[in-house]
Amino acid sequence: MKKARPPGPRLLNARARGIATLYSLFLSPYPAPAVMFSDDTDYFDSYSGAEVHRMMLGDRVRTEAYRDAIEAVVKPGMVVLDVGAGTGILSFFAARAGAAKVYAVDNSDILDTTRELAQANGFGDIIECIDGCAEDIQLPQKVDIIVSEWMGLYALTEAMFESVVAATHKHLRLDGQVIPAALSLHLVPIRDDKLYHEHGLGFWQNDMYGFDYSAMVGHEICDLETNTVDGSHAKALGRGAVVALFDAYTTPAESYWFKTEFTLEVDCDGPCHGFLGHFDARLSEEVMLSTSHELPLTHWRQSWFPLQERELRCGDRLEIKFRAQRDQVVDSRKPVYFLEGQVLRAEEVVDEFHYCYHSSYA
Ligand SMILES: C[S@@+](CC[C@H](N)C(=O)[O-])C[C@H]1O[C@@H](n2cnc3c(N)ncnc32)[C@H](O)[C@@H]1O
Repeated sequence: MKKARPPGPRLLNARARGIATLYSLFLSPYPAPAVMFSDDTDYFDSYSGAEVHRMMLGDRVRTEAYRDAIEAVVKPGMVVLDVGAGTGILSFFAARAGAAKVYAVDNSDILDTTRELAQANGFGDIIECIDGCAEDIQLPQKVDIIVSEWMGLYALTEAMFESVVAATHKHLRLDGQVIPAALSLHLVPIRDDKLYHEHGLGFWQNDMYGFDYSAMVGHEICDLETNTVDGSHAKALGRGAVVALFDAYTTPAESYWFKTEFTLEVDCDGPCHGFLGHFDARLSEEVMLSTSHELPLTHWRQSWFPLQERELRCGDRLEIKFRAQRDQVVDSRKPVYFLEGQVLRAEEVVDEFHYCYHSSYA
């Protein structure tokens, strides 16, 4: 939802995605096909308009969390690098906190306006706007702090973490600090009848103007997306799990594409409609930015990994294998997710599922 969807990759759709899935599932020991349609021009153009910035700046949970963290971490005289400055809001917080110099770097045309905004707010001497990719530019000095709001949907979409990791290696001084310092990804099993019947596979099981459309379930299952939803009405069927942990200082960029296995304990009876994914970002010692469905909604909302409805019982154990990998065919800034699970009831496997999900920008 966060950013306007780049037009190029969107045109491809189901067929190319099917090929991507086949490669991912069956041909992974062989070299993946070259990324065919990833054009970063589209990506950076999607940040040149006002609407996407309105959405981010209008997200007070997000922006105030960054403000509080920057005010806690940036001390007078420090040098700050803002990776992906956009309209410069994080740079402005840093300059207001007393930074001696802020490098506001972005590869989108929005930066022309950011320069004007910096002047208009009296930061023309402190904030230097630099066009380009943060990992490619040269700076005259190492910086004390790197700040970046790099998180796409379920954090991974857009794959901007790769640039932040590279920029950190290149520009941060040895004992410098990164905001956010760490990030965790979570999955929670949920029940949400309304979501399931309006936006999920349950839609096809509803009466369709007097016709039976249930065969569409099998069709849609081959082309699932992680829908971005407001999960605030969802009921958690268990505690959920942390599926990945990233540390800004030590996690290599390639580890953001991960594979994991975990067990979830179900603590109430009910139909399961899939999993809600969210991330928590530690912005400073005191400030955690959480996108959980149990907390105030952010513009990231939650990422829903829908399942075909299945009954769970209190005491069931879900043994899950979960993989996030780069989309090698359609858009290398997007993840493809693979979710496999077994439902264990009194040590017996009573149900199994295998799903693949593509992600969207919306
Ligand atoms: C999520 S927006 C954040 C904008 C702004 N920091 C804010 O908080 O409102 C990410 C920004 O990063 C920029 N960006 C993405 N990758 C970049 C890179 N490698 N170098 C510089 N800018 C980048 C995009 O153009 C976009 O403006």
